[in-house]
Amino acid sequence: MGIITTTTTTTVLPRSNGGRRRLVLLPLPFQGHINPMLQLANILYSKGFSITILHTRFNAPNPTNYPHFNFLPIPDVALNNNHSLSDIADVITLLHYLNTNLLHPIRDCLARLMHEDPGVSCLVTDAQWYATDSVADQLKLPRIVHRTSNVSSFLSFAAFPLLRDMGYFRPFSGEEMKSEELVPGLEPLKVKDIPKFLTSDPVGSCELLELMVQATKRARAIIWNSFKELEEAELSTVRHGFPYPHFLIGPFHKYFPASSSSLLAQDQTSISWLDKHPHNSVLYVSFGSLAMIEESQFLEMAWGLANSKQPFLWVVRPGSIQGSDWLGPLPDGFLERIAQGRGHIVKWAPQQEVLAHPATGGFLTHNGWNSTLESICEGVPMICSPCFGDQLPNARYVSEVWKIGVELENRLERGEIESSIKRVMVDKEGIEMRKRVLNLKEKVNLCLKEGGSSYTSLEDLVDFIRSF
Ligand code: UDX
Repeated sequence: MGIITTTTTTTVLPRSNGGRRRLVLLPLPFQGHINPMLQLANILYSKGFSITILHTRFNAPNPTNYPHFNFLPIPDVALNNNHSLSDIADVITLLHYLNTNLLHPIRDCLARLMHEDPGVSCLVTDAQWYATDSVADQLKLPRIVHRTSNVSSFLSFAAFPLLRDMGYFRPFSGEEMKSEELVPGLEPLKVKDIPKFLTSDPVGSCELLELMVQATKRARAIIWNSFKELEEAELSTVRHGFPYPHFLIGPFHKYFPASSSSLLAQDQTSISWLDKHPHNSVLYVSFGSLAMIEESQFLEMAWGLANSKQPFLWVVRPGSIQGSDWLGPLPDGFLERIAQGRGHIVKWAPQQEVLAHPATGGFLTHNGWNSTLESICEGVPMICSPCFGDQLPNARYVSEVWKIGVELENRLERGEIESSIKRVMVDKEGIEMRKRVLNLKEKVNLCLKEGGSSYTSLEDLVDFIRSF
Protein backbone atom coordinates (compact mmCIF):
# COMPACT_ATOMS: atom_id res chain seq x y z
CA MET A 1 0.00 0.00 0.00
CA GLY A 2 2.99 2.33 0.38
CA ILE A 3 1.89 3.59 3.74
CA ILE A 4 3.48 6.56 5.50
CA THR A 5 2.54 7.73 8.98
CA THR A 6 2.27 11.25 10.24
CA THR A 7 2.42 12.90 13.62
CA THR A 8 0.67 16.11 12.54
CA THR A 9 -2.53 16.69 14.50
CA THR A 10 -5.20 19.09 13.36
CA THR A 11 -8.21 18.65 15.60
CA VAL A 12 -11.61 20.26 15.40
CA LEU A 13 -12.54 21.94 18.65
CA PRO A 14 -15.79 20.71 20.10
CA ARG A 15 -18.65 23.18 19.99
CA SER A 16 -20.15 24.33 23.27
CA ASN A 17 -21.94 21.35 24.75
CA GLY A 18 -24.30 23.00 27.24
CA GLY A 19 -23.02 20.81 30.07
CA ARG A 20 -23.81 17.53 28.31
CA ARG A 21 -21.43 14.62 28.81
CA ARG A 22 -19.47 13.84 25.69
CA LEU A 23 -19.16 10.47 24.01
CA VAL A 24 -16.52 9.81 21.38
CA LEU A 25 -17.57 7.33 18.70
CA LEU A 26 -15.02 5.72 16.39
CA PRO A 27 -16.52 3.93 13.36
CA LEU A 28 -14.69 1.63 10.97
CA PRO A 29 -14.49 3.39 7.56
CA PHE A 30 -16.88 1.15 5.65
CA GLN A 31 -20.49 1.82 4.72
CA GLY A 32 -21.82 -1.19 6.64
CA HIS A 33 -20.05 0.05 9.79
CA ILE A 34 -20.52 3.82 9.37
CA ASN A 35 -24.30 3.52 9.02
CA PRO A 36 -24.97 1.77 12.35
CA MET A 37 -22.37 3.84 14.24
CA LEU A 38 -23.95 7.13 13.11
CA GLN A 39 -27.39 5.77 13.89
CA LEU A 40 -26.12 4.87 17.37
CA ALA A 41 -24.70 8.38 17.69
CA ASN A 42 -28.12 9.85 16.90
CA ILE A 43 -29.75 7.59 19.48
CA LEU A 44 -27.26 8.59 22.20
CA TYR A 45 -27.52 12.26 21.26
CA SER A 46 -31.30 12.02 21.72
CA LYS A 47 -30.58 10.76 25.24
CA GLY A 48 -28.71 13.91 26.18
CA PHE A 49 -25.07 13.19 25.30
CA SER A 50 -22.78 15.36 23.18
CA ILE A 51 -21.23 13.44 20.33
CA THR A 52 -17.80 13.55 18.73
CA ILE A 53 -17.26 11.34 15.72
CA LEU A 54 -13.59 10.44 15.44
CA HIS A 55 -13.03 9.21 11.90
CA THR A 56 -10.48 8.39 9.24
CA ARG A 57 -10.13 10.69 6.26
CA PHE A 58 -10.68 7.67 4.05
CA ASN A 59 -14.45 7.15 3.59
CA ALA A 60 -15.09 10.12 5.89
CA PRO A 61 -18.74 10.70 6.81
CA ASN A 62 -20.30 13.95 5.58
CA PRO A 63 -20.40 16.33 8.59
CA THR A 64 -23.01 18.60 6.98
CA ASN A 65 -25.59 15.83 7.44
CA TYR A 66 -24.97 15.90 11.20
CA PRO A 67 -24.67 19.54 12.32
CA HIS A 68 -25.35 18.50 15.93
CA PHE A 69 -22.13 16.40 16.14
CA ASN A 70 -18.47 17.33 16.20
CA PHE A 71 -16.33 15.57 13.63
CA LEU A 72 -12.68 14.96 14.34
CA PRO A 73 -10.59 13.58 11.46
CA ILE A 74 -7.66 11.39 12.45
CA PRO A 75 -4.55 12.87 10.84
CA ASP A 76 -3.10 10.38 8.38
CA VAL A 77 -1.38 11.38 5.17
CA ALA A 78 -1.20 7.85 3.79
CA LEU A 79 -4.89 7.12 3.52
CA ASN A 80 -7.29 9.88 2.58
CA ASN A 81 -10.57 10.28 0.78
CA ASN A 82 -8.86 10.15 -2.60
CA HIS A 83 -8.34 6.44 -2.04
CA SER A 84 -10.97 3.95 -3.04
CA LEU A 85 -11.27 0.39 -1.79
CA SER A 86 -9.75 -0.91 -5.01
CA ASP A 87 -6.52 0.94 -4.13
CA ILE A 88 -6.24 -1.14 -1.01
CA ALA A 89 -4.75 -4.61 -1.17
CA ASP A 90 -7.65 -5.98 0.84
CA VAL A 91 -9.81 -5.22 3.82
CA ILE A 92 -7.74 -7.36 6.20
CA THR A 93 -4.58 -5.43 5.30
CA LEU A 94 -6.44 -2.19 5.84
CA LEU A 95 -7.71 -3.26 9.26
CA HIS A 96 -4.19 -4.18 10.37
CA TYR A 97 -2.94 -0.85 9.05
CA LEU A 98 -5.59 1.12 10.93
CA ASN A 99 -4.90 -0.69 14.17
CA THR A 100 -1.15 -0.20 14.04
CA ASN A 101 -0.43 3.06 12.24
CA LEU A 102 -3.31 5.18 13.49
CA LEU A 103 -2.98 4.49 17.18
CA HIS A 104 -0.74 7.45 18.03
CA PRO A 105 -2.83 9.97 16.10
CA ILE A 106 -5.96 8.56 17.77
CA ARG A 107 -4.41 8.88 21.21
CA ASP A 108 -3.31 12.46 20.45
CA CYS A 109 -6.78 13.42 19.22
CA LEU A 110 -8.44 11.93 22.30
CA ALA A 111 -5.94 13.51 24.70
CA ARG A 112 -6.52 16.94 23.17
CA LEU A 113 -10.25 16.51 23.23
CA MET A 114 -10.21 15.41 26.89
CA HIS A 115 -8.05 18.41 27.72
CA GLU A 116 -10.49 20.79 25.98
CA ASP A 117 -13.64 19.13 27.32
CA PRO A 118 -13.41 17.52 30.76
CA GLY A 119 -16.88 16.08 30.14
CA VAL A 120 -15.59 13.33 27.82
CA SER A 121 -16.88 10.23 29.55
CA CYS A 122 -16.60 7.27 27.21
CA LEU A 123 -15.12 5.93 23.98
CA VAL A 124 -17.39 3.78 21.83
CA THR A 125 -15.43 1.95 19.14
CA ASP A 126 -16.25 -0.50 16.44
CA ALA A 127 -15.12 -3.94 17.65
CA GLN A 128 -12.62 -4.11 14.78
CA TRP A 129 -10.64 -1.20 16.26
CA TYR A 130 -9.14 -3.74 18.62
CA ALA A 131 -5.95 -1.78 19.37
CA THR A 132 -7.80 1.24 20.77
CA ASP A 133 -8.19 -0.86 23.88
CA SER A 134 -4.67 0.16 24.99
CA VAL A 135 -5.28 3.83 24.12
CA ALA A 136 -8.40 3.90 26.28
CA ASP A 137 -6.43 2.31 29.13
CA GLN A 138 -3.62 4.86 28.86
CA LEU A 139 -6.11 7.73 28.96
CA LYS A 140 -8.24 6.06 31.64
CA LEU A 141 -11.25 6.42 29.40
CA PRO A 142 -13.92 3.70 29.65
CA ARG A 143 -14.30 1.86 26.34
CA ILE A 144 -17.49 0.25 25.12
CA VAL A 145 -17.45 -1.90 22.02
CA HIS A 146 -20.08 -1.57 19.34
CA ARG A 147 -20.42 -4.75 17.33
CA THR A 148 -22.14 -3.82 14.06
CA SER A 149 -23.10 -7.41 13.36
CA ASN A 150 -25.19 -9.80 15.45
CA VAL A 151 -24.61 -12.09 18.41
CA SER A 152 -24.98 -15.32 16.42
CA SER A 153 -22.19 -14.56 13.97
CA PHE A 154 -19.97 -13.22 16.75
CA LEU A 155 -20.12 -16.64 18.41
CA SER A 156 -18.48 -18.14 15.33
CA PHE A 157 -15.71 -15.49 15.46
CA ALA A 158 -15.22 -16.16 19.16
CA ALA A 159 -14.82 -19.88 18.38
CA PHE A 160 -11.99 -19.26 15.89
CA PRO A 161 -9.09 -20.45 18.13
CA LEU A 162 -10.97 -23.66 18.90
CA LEU A 163 -11.91 -24.18 15.27
CA ARG A 164 -8.32 -23.61 14.20
CA ASP A 165 -7.07 -26.17 16.71
CA MET A 166 -9.66 -28.61 15.39
CA GLY A 167 -8.23 -28.15 11.89
CA TYR A 168 -11.15 -26.31 10.33
CA PHE A 169 -8.98 -23.68 8.65
CA ARG A 170 -6.44 -25.93 7.01
CA PRO A 171 -8.27 -26.06 3.71
CA PHE A 172 -9.07 -22.34 3.63
CA SER A 173 -9.89 -22.43 -0.03
CA GLY A 174 -10.06 -26.16 -0.53
CA GLU A 175 -12.48 -29.04 -0.66
CA GLU A 176 -13.70 -29.09 2.92
CA MET A 177 -14.99 -25.50 2.72
CA LYS A 178 -17.88 -27.00 0.75
CA SER A 179 -18.65 -29.43 3.51
CA GLU A 180 -22.22 -29.86 4.64
CA GLU A 181 -21.16 -31.14 8.05
CA LEU A 182 -22.46 -29.32 11.12
CA VAL A 183 -19.84 -27.59 13.27
CA PRO A 184 -20.09 -29.04 16.81
CA GLY A 185 -21.15 -26.32 19.24
CA LEU A 186 -22.11 -23.88 16.50
CA GLU A 187 -25.15 -25.70 15.05
CA PRO A 188 -26.92 -24.97 12.73
CA LEU A 189 -23.72 -23.67 11.12
CA LYS A 190 -22.12 -26.04 8.64
CA VAL A 191 -18.43 -26.13 7.88
CA LYS A 192 -19.06 -24.04 4.79
CA ASP A 193 -20.72 -21.33 6.93
CA ILE A 194 -17.64 -20.62 9.04
CA PRO A 195 -16.74 -17.00 8.24
CA LYS A 196 -13.98 -16.70 5.68
CA PHE A 197 -12.47 -13.69 3.99
CA LEU A 198 -11.38 -12.88 0.48
CA THR A 199 -7.83 -12.07 1.32
CA SER A 200 -4.32 -12.91 0.27
CA ASP A 201 -3.59 -13.23 3.97
CA PRO A 202 -5.81 -15.92 5.59
CA VAL A 203 -3.46 -16.25 8.58
CA GLY A 204 -3.65 -12.48 9.08
CA SER A 205 -7.44 -12.61 9.03
CA CYS A 206 -7.49 -15.29 11.76
CA GLU A 207 -5.11 -13.21 13.85
CA LEU A 208 -7.18 -10.11 13.34
CA LEU A 209 -10.35 -11.84 14.48
CA GLU A 210 -8.64 -13.23 17.56
CA LEU A 211 -7.34 -9.77 18.45
CA MET A 212 -10.82 -8.34 17.92
CA VAL A 213 -12.37 -10.96 20.18
CA GLN A 214 -9.72 -10.51 22.90
CA ALA A 215 -10.10 -6.71 22.87
CA THR A 216 -13.88 -7.08 22.97
CA LYS A 217 -13.44 -9.21 26.10
CA ARG A 218 -11.57 -6.37 27.79
CA ALA A 219 -14.23 -3.73 27.03
CA ARG A 220 -16.63 -2.46 29.71
CA ALA A 221 -19.68 -3.54 27.75
CA ILE A 222 -20.93 -4.29 24.27
CA ILE A 223 -23.66 -2.64 22.23
CA TRP A 224 -25.37 -4.78 19.59
CA ASN A 225 -27.45 -3.68 16.64
CA SER A 226 -29.89 -6.49 17.27
CA PHE A 227 -32.88 -7.24 19.50
CA LYS A 228 -33.29 -9.78 22.26
CA GLU A 229 -36.24 -11.67 20.80
CA LEU A 230 -34.21 -12.57 17.70
CA GLU A 231 -31.20 -14.12 19.43
CA GLU A 232 -32.23 -15.13 22.92
CA ALA A 233 -30.31 -18.44 23.04
CA GLU A 234 -27.16 -16.97 21.48
CA LEU A 235 -27.26 -14.09 23.94
CA SER A 236 -27.17 -16.42 26.91
CA THR A 237 -24.26 -18.32 25.31
CA VAL A 238 -22.22 -15.19 24.63
CA ARG A 239 -22.69 -14.00 28.22
CA HIS A 240 -20.58 -16.96 29.43
CA GLY A 241 -17.46 -15.86 27.59
CA PHE A 242 -18.14 -12.13 27.88
CA PRO A 243 -19.55 -11.66 31.37
CA TYR A 244 -20.33 -7.94 31.29
CA PRO A 245 -23.36 -5.89 30.22
CA HIS A 246 -24.72 -6.61 26.75
CA PHE A 247 -26.98 -3.91 25.37
CA LEU A 248 -29.19 -5.11 22.53
CA ILE A 249 -30.85 -1.85 21.57
CA GLY A 250 -31.48 -2.39 17.87
CA PRO A 251 -32.56 -2.17 15.18
CA PHE A 252 -30.85 1.23 15.25
CA HIS A 253 -32.25 2.47 11.96
CA LYS A 254 -35.83 2.26 13.25
CA TYR A 255 -35.34 5.04 15.83
CA PHE A 256 -35.24 7.86 13.27
CA PRO A 257 -36.17 8.35 9.59
CA ALA A 258 -33.66 6.91 7.07
CA SER A 259 -30.33 8.50 7.87
CA SER A 260 -28.01 10.26 5.46
CA SER A 261 -24.74 8.47 6.08
CA SER A 262 -24.63 6.99 2.57
CA LEU A 263 -21.21 7.43 0.98
CA LEU A 264 -22.73 7.07 -2.50
CA ALA A 265 -25.57 9.00 -4.14
CA GLN A 266 -28.82 7.06 -3.86
CA ASP A 267 -30.74 6.81 -7.14
CA GLN A 268 -34.30 7.99 -6.41
CA THR A 269 -35.65 6.53 -9.66
CA SER A 270 -35.69 3.28 -7.63
CA ILE A 271 -38.74 4.57 -5.79
CA SER A 272 -40.59 6.06 -8.78
CA TRP A 273 -40.01 2.76 -10.62
CA LEU A 274 -41.33 0.73 -7.66
CA ASP A 275 -44.41 3.00 -7.52
CA LYS A 276 -45.55 1.49 -10.84
CA HIS A 277 -45.64 -2.06 -9.50
CA PRO A 278 -48.23 -4.07 -7.53
CA HIS A 279 -47.72 -5.12 -3.90
CA ASN A 280 -45.03 -7.71 -3.20
CA SER A 281 -44.25 -8.15 -6.90
CA VAL A 282 -40.66 -6.86 -7.14
CA LEU A 283 -37.46 -8.66 -6.20
CA TYR A 284 -34.85 -6.23 -4.86
CA VAL A 285 -31.25 -7.30 -5.54
CA SER A 286 -28.21 -5.82 -3.81
CA PHE A 287 -24.89 -7.09 -2.46
CA GLY A 288 -23.99 -4.15 -0.22
CA SER A 289 -20.93 -1.95 -0.29
CA LEU A 290 -17.99 -4.37 -0.33
CA ALA A 291 -18.85 -7.70 -1.94
CA MET A 292 -17.44 -8.40 -5.40
CA ILE A 293 -18.48 -11.10 -7.85
CA GLU A 294 -16.94 -12.58 -10.97
CA GLU A 295 -18.22 -11.67 -14.40
CA SER A 296 -19.53 -15.22 -14.95
CA GLN A 297 -21.54 -15.01 -11.68
CA PHE A 298 -22.91 -11.63 -12.72
CA LEU A 299 -24.15 -13.16 -15.97
CA GLU A 300 -25.72 -16.09 -14.10
CA MET A 301 -27.58 -13.55 -11.98
CA ALA A 302 -28.73 -11.65 -15.05
CA TRP A 303 -30.10 -14.81 -16.69
CA GLY A 304 -31.65 -16.06 -13.44
CA LEU A 305 -33.46 -12.74 -12.98
CA ALA A 306 -34.61 -12.55 -16.59
CA ASN A 307 -35.79 -16.18 -16.66
CA SER A 308 -37.75 -15.78 -13.41
CA LYS A 309 -40.24 -13.48 -15.20
CA GLN A 310 -40.50 -11.50 -11.95
CA PRO A 311 -39.93 -7.70 -11.93
CA PHE A 312 -36.56 -6.81 -10.34
CA LEU A 313 -34.79 -3.72 -9.04
CA TRP A 314 -31.08 -4.48 -9.24
CA VAL A 315 -28.28 -2.50 -7.58
CA VAL A 316 -25.08 -3.03 -9.54
CA ARG A 317 -22.44 -1.07 -7.65
CA PRO A 318 -19.72 0.20 -10.00
CA GLY A 319 -16.57 -1.82 -9.33
CA SER A 320 -18.46 -4.77 -7.84
CA ILE A 321 -17.88 -7.02 -10.88
CA GLN A 322 -14.28 -8.14 -11.15
CA GLY A 323 -12.60 -6.74 -14.23
CA SER A 324 -15.56 -4.65 -15.34
CA ASP A 325 -16.54 -1.04 -14.70
CA TRP A 326 -20.33 -1.43 -14.68
CA LEU A 327 -22.84 -3.13 -16.99
CA GLY A 328 -20.36 -3.98 -19.74
CA PRO A 329 -20.72 -7.79 -19.47
CA LEU A 330 -24.54 -7.75 -19.96
CA PRO A 331 -25.74 -9.09 -23.32
CA ASP A 332 -27.00 -6.43 -25.75
CA GLY A 333 -30.62 -5.47 -25.14
CA PHE A 334 -30.68 -7.20 -21.76
CA LEU A 335 -33.26 -4.98 -20.06
CA GLU A 336 -35.55 -4.39 -23.05
CA ARG A 337 -35.33 -7.63 -25.01
CA ILE A 338 -34.15 -10.41 -22.67
CA ALA A 339 -35.81 -9.21 -19.46
CA GLN A 340 -38.69 -7.74 -21.51
CA GLY A 341 -38.80 -4.45 -19.61
CA ARG A 342 -39.27 -6.12 -16.22
CA GLY A 343 -36.05 -4.81 -14.69
CA HIS A 344 -34.53 -1.56 -13.45
CA ILE A 345 -30.80 -1.28 -12.71
CA VAL A 346 -29.24 1.44 -10.53
CA LYS A 347 -25.76 2.06 -9.12
CA TRP A 348 -26.93 2.59 -5.53
CA ALA A 349 -30.43 2.73 -4.07
CA PRO A 350 -32.12 4.28 -1.02
CA GLN A 351 -32.23 0.76 0.41
CA GLN A 352 -34.29 1.33 3.53
CA GLU A 353 -36.99 3.06 1.47
CA VAL A 354 -36.85 0.34 -1.16
CA LEU A 355 -37.35 -2.40 1.42
CA ALA A 356 -40.20 -0.44 3.04
CA HIS A 357 -41.94 0.05 -0.32
CA PRO A 358 -45.13 -2.02 -0.67
CA ALA A 359 -44.07 -3.24 -4.13
CA THR A 360 -40.95 -4.96 -2.75
CA GLY A 361 -41.75 -8.63 -2.16
CA GLY A 362 -38.32 -10.27 -1.85
CA PHE A 363 -34.64 -9.46 -1.42
CA LEU A 364 -31.76 -11.26 -3.11
CA THR A 365 -29.00 -10.28 -0.71
CA HIS A 366 -25.42 -11.01 0.36
CA ASN A 367 -26.70 -10.93 3.98
CA GLY A 368 -24.55 -8.15 5.34
CA TRP A 369 -26.05 -7.62 8.79
CA ASN A 370 -27.51 -4.19 8.00
CA SER A 371 -29.26 -5.53 4.91
CA THR A 372 -30.53 -8.59 6.78
CA LEU A 373 -31.88 -6.51 9.66
CA GLU A 374 -33.40 -3.90 7.33
CA SER A 375 -35.20 -6.71 5.48
CA ILE A 376 -36.52 -8.21 8.73
CA CYS A 377 -37.78 -4.80 9.83
CA GLU A 378 -39.83 -4.42 6.66
CA GLY A 379 -41.12 -8.00 6.60
CA VAL A 380 -39.34 -8.90 3.35
CA PRO A 381 -38.26 -12.57 2.87
CA MET A 382 -34.78 -13.18 1.49
CA ILE A 383 -32.82 -15.18 -1.04
CA CYS A 384 -29.37 -15.49 0.48
CA SER A 385 -26.09 -15.49 -1.39
CA PRO A 386 -23.44 -14.71 1.22
CA CYS A 387 -19.94 -13.72 0.11
CA PHE A 388 -17.66 -13.46 3.15
CA GLY A 389 -17.37 -12.90 6.90
CA ASP A 390 -20.53 -12.72 9.01
CA GLN A 391 -22.67 -12.98 5.86
CA LEU A 392 -22.19 -16.78 5.86
CA PRO A 393 -23.61 -17.43 9.33
CA ASN A 394 -26.26 -14.73 8.80
CA ALA A 395 -27.55 -16.57 5.73
CA ARG A 396 -27.75 -19.87 7.61
CA TYR A 397 -29.76 -18.23 10.40
CA VAL A 398 -32.12 -16.64 7.85
CA SER A 399 -32.78 -19.93 6.09
CA GLU A 400 -32.64 -22.47 8.93
CA VAL A 401 -33.29 -20.74 12.26
CA TRP A 402 -35.64 -17.88 11.49
CA LYS A 403 -36.88 -19.63 8.31
CA ILE A 404 -37.49 -16.35 6.52
CA GLY A 405 -35.61 -17.09 3.33
CA VAL A 406 -33.77 -19.63 1.22
CA GLU A 407 -30.06 -19.92 0.59
CA LEU A 408 -28.47 -20.36 -2.82
CA GLU A 409 -26.36 -23.38 -1.94
CA ASN A 410 -24.54 -23.33 -5.31
CA ARG A 411 -23.71 -19.64 -5.01
CA LEU A 412 -24.85 -17.93 -8.18
CA GLU A 413 -26.27 -20.31 -10.77
CA ARG A 414 -29.11 -19.25 -13.07
CA GLY A 415 -31.38 -22.30 -12.55
CA GLU A 416 -31.16 -22.12 -8.76
CA ILE A 417 -31.72 -18.35 -8.80
CA GLU A 418 -34.83 -18.75 -10.95
CA SER A 419 -36.29 -21.53 -8.81
CA SER A 420 -35.48 -19.67 -5.56
CA ILE A 421 -37.26 -16.56 -6.80
CA LYS A 422 -40.32 -18.71 -7.45
CA ARG A 423 -40.05 -20.37 -4.03
CA VAL A 424 -39.90 -17.03 -2.21
CA MET A 425 -42.14 -14.81 -4.35
CA VAL A 426 -44.78 -17.22 -5.70
CA ASP A 427 -44.98 -20.57 -3.92
CA LYS A 428 -46.86 -21.47 -0.71
CA GLU A 429 -43.46 -21.92 0.94
CA GLY A 430 -42.80 -18.21 0.31
CA ILE A 431 -46.13 -17.25 1.84
CA GLU A 432 -45.09 -19.06 5.04
CA MET A 433 -41.71 -17.26 5.02
CA ARG A 434 -43.47 -13.94 4.62
CA LYS A 435 -45.75 -14.71 7.59
CA ARG A 436 -42.72 -15.52 9.75
CA VAL A 437 -40.79 -12.41 8.76
CA LEU A 438 -43.89 -10.26 9.32
CA ASN A 439 -44.11 -11.81 12.76
CA LEU A 440 -40.50 -10.71 13.41
CA LYS A 441 -41.34 -7.25 12.09
CA GLU A 442 -44.10 -7.08 14.71
CA LYS A 443 -41.59 -8.11 17.40
CA VAL A 444 -39.31 -5.29 16.25
CA ASN A 445 -42.13 -2.79 16.65
CA LEU A 446 -42.84 -4.07 20.16
CA CYS A 447 -39.23 -4.17 21.34
CA LEU A 448 -38.78 -0.47 20.53
CA LYS A 449 -41.91 0.62 22.39
CA GLU A 450 -41.83 1.73 26.04
CA GLY A 451 -41.24 -1.37 28.17
CA GLY A 452 -39.95 -3.37 25.16
CA SER A 453 -36.59 -5.14 25.28
CA SER A 454 -34.57 -2.66 23.18
CA TYR A 455 -36.24 0.33 24.80
CA THR A 456 -35.36 -0.96 28.26
CA SER A 457 -31.85 -1.95 27.22
CA LEU A 458 -31.24 1.58 25.93
CA GLU A 459 -32.39 3.05 29.26
CA ASP A 460 -29.93 0.68 30.98
CA LEU A 461 -27.14 1.71 28.61
CA VAL A 462 -27.73 5.40 29.36
CA ASP A 463 -27.61 4.71 33.12
CA PHE A 464 -24.48 2.61 32.63
CA ILE A 465 -22.66 5.40 30.77
CA ARG A 466 -23.78 8.00 33.31
CA SER A 467 -22.25 5.85 36.06
CA PHE A 468 -18.70 6.46 34.71
C1 UDX B 1 -20.17 -4.90 5.73
C2 UDX B 1 -20.11 -6.42 5.74
O1 UDX B 1 -20.03 -6.92 4.44
C3 UDX B 1 -21.26 -6.98 6.47
O2 UDX B 1 -21.24 -8.37 6.39
C4 UDX B 1 -21.19 -6.53 7.89
O3 UDX B 1 -22.27 -7.08 8.61
C5 UDX B 1 -21.20 -5.02 7.93
O4 UDX B 1 -20.18 -4.49 7.10
P1 UDX B 1 -21.87 -4.36 3.65
O5 UDX B 1 -21.30 -5.48 2.89
O6 UDX B 1 -21.84 -3.04 3.02
O7 UDX B 1 -21.30 -4.29 5.13
O8 UDX B 1 -23.39 -4.80 3.89
P2 UDX B 1 -24.52 -4.33 4.88
O9 UDX B 1 -24.18 -4.67 6.28
O10 UDX B 1 -25.75 -4.93 4.38
O11 UDX B 1 -24.55 -2.75 4.78
C6 UDX B 1 -24.87 -2.07 3.60
C7 UDX B 1 -25.57 -0.78 3.95
O12 UDX B 1 -25.60 0.02 2.76
C8 UDX B 1 -26.99 -0.97 4.41
O13 UDX B 1 -27.27 -0.11 5.50
C9 UDX B 1 -27.83 -0.57 3.20
O14 UDX B 1 -29.07 0.02 3.52
C10 UDX B 1 -26.93 0.41 2.50
N1 UDX B 1 -27.16 0.37 1.04
C11 UDX B 1 -26.86 -0.76 0.33
C12 UDX B 1 -27.71 1.46 0.43
O15 UDX B 1 -28.00 2.48 1.07
N2 UDX B 1 -27.94 1.41 -0.92
C13 UDX B 1 -27.64 0.32 -1.67
O16 UDX B 1 -27.85 0.36 -2.88
C14 UDX B 1 -27.08 -0.80 -1.03
